[in-house]
Amino acid sequence: MSRAKVTKYVSGCLVSLFLMTQGIQGSDRPEFPLGEKTQGIRSADISKFPPIGLLPPVAIPADNPQTLAKIELGKKLYFDPRLSGNNWISCATCHNPTLGFADGLPRMLGGPASREGGRNSPTIINCAYNEFQFWDGRAATLEEQALGPIQNPNEMFETLDNVVRKLSGIPGYVAAFKEVFGTGVTADGIAKAIAAFERTIVFANSPFDRYMQGDVNAMSESAKRGMDLFNGKAECIKCHNGPNFADNKFHNIGVPADGPLKEDLGRYNVTKNDADKGAFKTPTLRNITETGPYMHNGFFPTLFEVVQFYNGGGGRSENKSADIHALRLTGQEVNDLIEFMKALTGELVQIKYDSVPVAYPSLPTDF
Ligand code: HEC
Ligand code: HEC
Repeated sequence: MSRAKVTKYVSGCLVSLFLMTQGIQGSDRPEFPLGEKTQGIRSADISKFPPIGLLPPVAIPADNPQTLAKIELGKKLYFDPRLSGNNWISCATCHNPTLGFADGLPRMLGGPASREGGRNSPTIINCAYNEFQFWDGRAATLEEQALGPIQNPNEMFETLDNVVRKLSGIPGYVAAFKEVFGTGVTADGIAKAIAAFERTIVFANSPFDRYMQGDVNAMSESAKRGMDLFNGKAECIKCHNGPNFADNKFHNIGVPADGPLKEDLGRYNVTKNDADKGAFKTPTLRNITETGPYMHNGFFPTLFEVVQFYNGGGGRSENKSADIHALRLTGQEVNDLIEFMKALTGELVQIKYDSVPVAYPSLPTDF
């Protein structure tokens, strides 16, 4: 970092620290009337939850350092439909940059017959900050995750052997793998390059981020009230906490079943622990305006319906989290909360897309 940048960064941190200790999370934060014992978070309790705030730099695993050539290779693989069984589906089909790196559908369509799956395609925006991947957290790292969809019969239905064989016949890939890994095309290299590319899909500089850096006009008055509700009366921060608005934990909030699955046991499928039945990973709320429909099965088309769901105390489930209960938000408060979530939509800060067509590209045959 240059000296000027360091100064800017440090002063940004100081301003946000000031805001955190003073106006926003400190002593003059309003106390909400507590109708029930569990209603609202008192200002004294707010410090129990990691504060929402500016994103730290992405952590890069020691065995997969970022290089420009690797990121470029990962980007090509991410957009290349030749990773699928019919050379038609790429990662970008379901995690499409023009649809918030998701697909705009309640549940994914995949496999040779484009069948509807049981779950919603989550955005890969800021997935580098996830401690678990997938709604049920069954993969830990992006490297581990990347080879899953290629082989999944309901997604890209291809074998790794076939992908390696296909890509080994494309001179551009052979040269790129040689340059990046010093090897021919390998499944391990495919996973590493795609993961390196995904670690650049970081969205920040939202109105919320600018507000936290001291630009008090970056958020509307309604959004500012929404932020107070988020941290207080509406209790969202209990789970959507930390800089990426996700606690990396699993909760059952009672989302009704929908789509081809009669029942989705979520995290329980991984742990076989009864307490995890119907629990899903808390998703990030960054860029949430772009990534609907919402929830693991895309049950809610809009943020309004999501907030009304929470306001009414969530859904029905024997195993529902104790942190989900009726909120008694007024119509104005519901709107304020939505305005705050709108202020979380930022921009891609690291890479541009000039060199790759945005969706469903046909890459040249030598690549
Ligand atoms: C046919 C649609 C489809 C395709 C193609 C697809 N995905 Fe996904 N992706 C999904 C769905 C659905 C999930 C959630 C599945 C679950 O939780 O069980 C998911 C989950 C993920 C996640 C986890 C995100 C999170 O927050 O948990 C990442 C990362 C990801 N996909 C990356 C990729 C990459 C890389 C490719 C290409 C190699 C790819 N996906 C291809 C539909 C797709
Ligand atoms: C007990 C923890 C918890 C609390 C409290 C909570 N959430 Fe969530 N949130 C989750 C989980 C878990 C999911 C995913 C649930 C699922 O798909 O079944 C979720 C999903 C969402 C989604 C959909 C995200 C997506 O990408 O599909 C939005 C929006 C959301 N929550 C907003 C809020 C707001 C606003 C509040 C406060 C009113 C709140 N949440 C309170 C845990 C929580």
